[in-house]
Amino acid sequence: RAPSVFVPSCLRGPVVFQARGRAPASGENGRTMPAGSASLAAGAVLHSLLSRTRIHPKEDRMRLMMLGPPGAGKGTIAKKLIDKYAVPQLSTGALLRAAVQEGTPLGLEAKKCMDAGDLVPDKVVIGLIKERLTQRDCTKGFILDGFPRTLPQAEALARITKLQAVINLDVPDDEVISRLSGRRTCTKCGAIYHVRNIPPKTPGKCDKDGADLFQRDDDKEEAIRNRLNVSRRQTLPLIDYYRAAGILHDVDGAAGVDNVTAASVKIIETIK
Ligand code: AP5
Repeated sequence: RAPSVFVPSCLRGPVVFQARGRAPASGENGRTMPAGSASLAAGAVLHSLLSRTRIHPKEDRMRLMMLGPPGAGKGTIAKKLIDKYAVPQLSTGALLRAAVQEGTPLGLEAKKCMDAGDLVPDKVVIGLIKERLTQRDCTKGFILDGFPRTLPQAEALARITKLQAVINLDVPDDEVISRLSGRRTCTKCGAIYHVRNIPPKTPGKCDKDGADLFQRDDDKEEAIRNRLNVSRRQTLPLIDYYRAAGILHDVDGAAGVDNVTAASVKIIETIK
């Protein structure tokens, strides 16, 4: 029997996620994920088989993903790119935070994982993104931010659509910690600032709409360190997975926002 997954009310109530194809090799959150090259190779083979066997309808929409550790700048750069290419940013973190704010059953459950810096179960985020990808604004394309971040999520995505490119933002840990501890986000539009690197014109207020800025609950030092560990264990294998699929592009995420954006645009222009 397929597990039930609740999605935020903004995503039209409860849905059932029906896993298709072979069962993922790991348990929730990849905690029992087999390590090493065998699973990576199997993932890459699956990705390429799915591409060749026309499970995907022919797609000409933009299908991009931002990959990188917490605080690498995935959200910041995605926002620059969606302005330029007029496609939506699909952030599982933002979808989950919306559910937390609305107090839905999913939000209450997800909050515990998020505050601790752990991942929310695969089946929940896969259900969320599956539903989100069917919405009208994705017709022209999408930029995924924060999904997939485990091998089972990547395999589930490969059964839905074929990514054109993955932009991998490489940023050292000490920079990540400094970025996350100074991050501030707009309560209204989600614009992202940094108290030192990218400060708002008026402290505590968004430049775009004047709304209050807030600090995320998971941007506390203990949670940040756990998020980095979780990322190393569960998300890092995606670098090899997508490199083997031939669609990974490395970008120096430690450079300034303008440079990182320009490098990302250059990559997109080569795949269009
Ligand atoms: P999520 O919201 O996705 O958080 P994350 O991956 O930890 O990434 P962040 O949003 O923290 O960082 P970012 O890379 O977007 O950096 P940003 O642009 O903000 O997920 C939160 C939680 O939800 C997870 O921990 C998990 O619990 C759950 N979750 C989400 N997706 C999930 C999934 N698929 N599966 C399971 N669980 C999931 O930038 C950071 C700061 O740096 C900002 O202050 C910014 O101004 C600054 N900055 C950015 N770029 C630069 C630059 N180039 N130079 C200087 N400063 C910069």
